[in-house]
Amino acid sequence: MKTTVKTISAKKGVEKISMITAYDAMFASLADRAGADIILVGDSVGNTVLGYKSTVAVTMSMMLHHTSAVARGTENALILADVPFGVAHQSFDKLLENVSALVQVAGADAVKIEGGQAMAEKINKLTNAGIAVMAHIGLEPQQVLKLGGYRKFGKTDAEKQQLLADAKALEQAGAFALLLEMTDAETAKEITQAVSIPTIGIGSGVNCDGQVLVCADILGLTKNPPKFVKQYANLDKIITEAYTSYINDVKSSKFPEK
Ligand code: KIV
Repeated sequence: MKTTVKTISAKKGVEKISMITAYDAMFASLADRAGADIILVGDSVGNTVLGYKSTVAVTMSMMLHHTSAVARGTENALILADVPFGVAHQSFDKLLENVSALVQVAGADAVKIEGGQAMAEKINKLTNAGIAVMAHIGLEPQQVLKLGGYRKFGKTDAEKQQLLADAKALEQAGAFALLLEMTDAETAKEITQAVSIPTIGIGSGVNCDGQVLVCADILGLTKNPPKFVKQYANLDKIITEAYTSYINDVKSSKFPEK
């Protein structure tokens, strides 16, 4: 059965929400058949599969391309598409045009936007336009050039209060869920208790309403995954061995067989 934002909202306090990234139809279909609640077409496509250093290089046309592929491979999971670098900071009309394309053309069910209170007004207008928005706070990877690297957020009282205020403002604005990235576990727990919308954590402890991981990290396809990652398979080894066997068979004329 197709997952909707209503289904996701109803899971808060009842059942944990699972979210996995995917960037193409093949891996979307795998996550979908495994039963992921949400498939995130993350702008992590930049560093995960396209070879960029960060998500900053990811453009709208890339997001449209990858979201369309994910939509073609997904039957049940909610398809969530990232709004890439810079786009949410354009005029509202331009943002609406871009977000509408992710939904109307590419087939996203909802979009994710990085930013706290400062994004609340635009998120409110988008939800009024009928677009479901997940807000992304804590570490905002699109800010990496300004931050000079990635770090944990919400460890100090000042940052915790700011994140709590952001979370409440975004809930008020109509966001259907909050993504908490690299947020201090205690702060993430307090945010989760303070809002009525689900929180999805990554590197933010066990008390969020759900969890997200990047598919390549789960599958063991990332060279240096973050410390919080749990690797569930070593596909790097499995794929390299399969490719090596195939190459050896070709070289020794064992493949194709008569
Ligand atoms: O782009 C992405 O993969 C993300 C992560 C937080 C999961 O936003």
